[in-house]
Amino acid sequence: MNKIKLGIIGMGRMGITHYSIINSHPDVEIVSVADTSKMILDILKKYVPDLQVFKDYKELIDASKPDAIIVCTPPNLHYEVCNYACEHDIHVFCEKPFTANIEQAKELKEKFAAKSLINQVGYVNRFNDIFMTVKKYINEGLIGNIVRFRSEMFTCTVTKKEETESWRSFRENGGGAVYEIAAHAIDLVDYLIGKPDKIVGTSMNQIYSKHVEDIVSSTFVYNNGTSGTLYVNWCDTSYRKPANKLELFGIKGKILADQHGLKIFLNADDLQTGYKKGWNTVYITDVFTSVDFYVRGNEFTRQLYYFADSILKKESGNKCDFSAGYDAQYVMNQLFVDSESNKLN
Ligand SMILES: NC(=O)c1ccc[n+]([C@@H]2O[C@H](COP(=O)([O-])OP(=O)(O)OC[C@H]3O[C@@H](n4cnc5c(N)ncnc54)[C@H](O)[C@@H]3O)[C@@H](O)[C@H]2O)c1
Repeated sequence: MNKIKLGIIGMGRMGITHYSIINSHPDVEIVSVADTSKMILDILKKYVPDLQVFKDYKELIDASKPDAIIVCTPPNLHYEVCNYACEHDIHVFCEKPFTANIEQAKELKEKFAAKSLINQVGYVNRFNDIFMTVKKYINEGLIGNIVRFRSEMFTCTVTKKEETESWRSFRENGGGAVYEIAAHAIDLVDYLIGKPDKIVGTSMNQIYSKHVEDIVSSTFVYNNGTSGTLYVNWCDTSYRKPANKLELFGIKGKILADQHGLKIFLNADDLQTGYKKGWNTVYITDVFTSVDFYVRGNEFTRQLYYFADSILKKESGNKCDFSAGYDAQYVMNQLFVDSESNKLN
C-alpha cells in the first residue's frame, strides 16, 4: 500500500478535527467524506473540490472504496457503520463511546478480531504524554501496589435547560454524561488499573437535562483488594475545558495527575527515576514528545497517526482497539444497571 485511501463518516465537530489532523499525514489521502447535512457537504465541496462527498455512508464505502475510515457520527450509528466497514474489509477508527449498546460492542469486537483489520476507539487519553508516563510509572512499581484511586472528569458541556434536543439528550443515541464524558474517565481506569470486577454505589443526578444524567459517581471494586471511585459532572461551569483528574494511592507513594502535569509523593527516594522522598512535580514539557501537526493536544494527533501507521506497517495497532472499547462499554452498562438498582423509588 503506497498511501492509505481514507474516508471520514460524520463531519461534525470531531469529523472536522480528525480531518485536519490526518490530512497532515504524508501517507494518507482523504478521498471521501459522508454526512447527512447538505450544508456541511456543500462547504467541503466548495473548499476541497477533489473530495468525494456522500450523504449516505454506504455509498461512500461502495463508490470511493477506502482502505480505512474514521467514524464520527453520533454513537448510536457507530455499530452499523463499523459493521458495514468490516463486511467490506476496511480498517476502522471509531470515536468513543464505541457503541450505544453493550451487545453491539461485543459483536463488533469479535467480528474485527476475526479479521486482520486495524480497529481503534478514540479514547484519546491513552495517547496523552502525562497519562502514558503515569502508566509507565505504575508498571515500573514507582508507587507500589495501588490500594485506592479516584478518576474524575469535569466539563461545561450542558450549562442550561435544553431549548432544542440533540443526540446528546438521549441515552439510546449515545447521549448523557456517562457516554459522553465518563467514558474517558472509565477508559483511563481500564488503561491504568484494569477493568473493575464489581461496581457498587452508583448514583446519577440531573441538573439541566430532561432525559439523561448530568452527574455520575460510583465505586469500582477489584478482586485483589484495590478499590476506587468515579466522579463525573458535565455541567460544571468552573471548568472552561474538559479536565481529567486522577489520584492514585499506592503502598510506596501517591500520584496526582491531569492532562497537563503530575505530582508524585514518594515515601522514599527512587533510584531508577531520581525522584526524591516527598513531593516531585513533573510538567508536560518534561515528558512530552512532539507531533508533526498540532490540533487540540498532542494526543489527538498521536492517536490518529498510530492508527495510520498501524495500517501502513501492518502492526497489530492494539493500544486502544475494539476490545478496549468493549471494556469501557461493559463498565458503562454496569453503571446504568447499578444506578437503577440503587433508586429509592
Ligand atoms: N474524543 C473526544 O474527545 C470527543 C469529543 C467530542 C465528541 N466525541 C465523539 O465523537 C462523535 C461525534 O461527536 P461530535 O461532537 O462530532 O458530534 P456532532 O453532532 O458535532 O457531529 C456528528 C455529525 O454526524 C453527522 N451524521 C448524523 N447522522 C449521520 C449519518 N447517518 N451518516 C453520516 N453522518 C451523519 C451529523 O450531521 C454531524 O455532522 C461522538 O461519538 C462523540 O461522543 C469525542
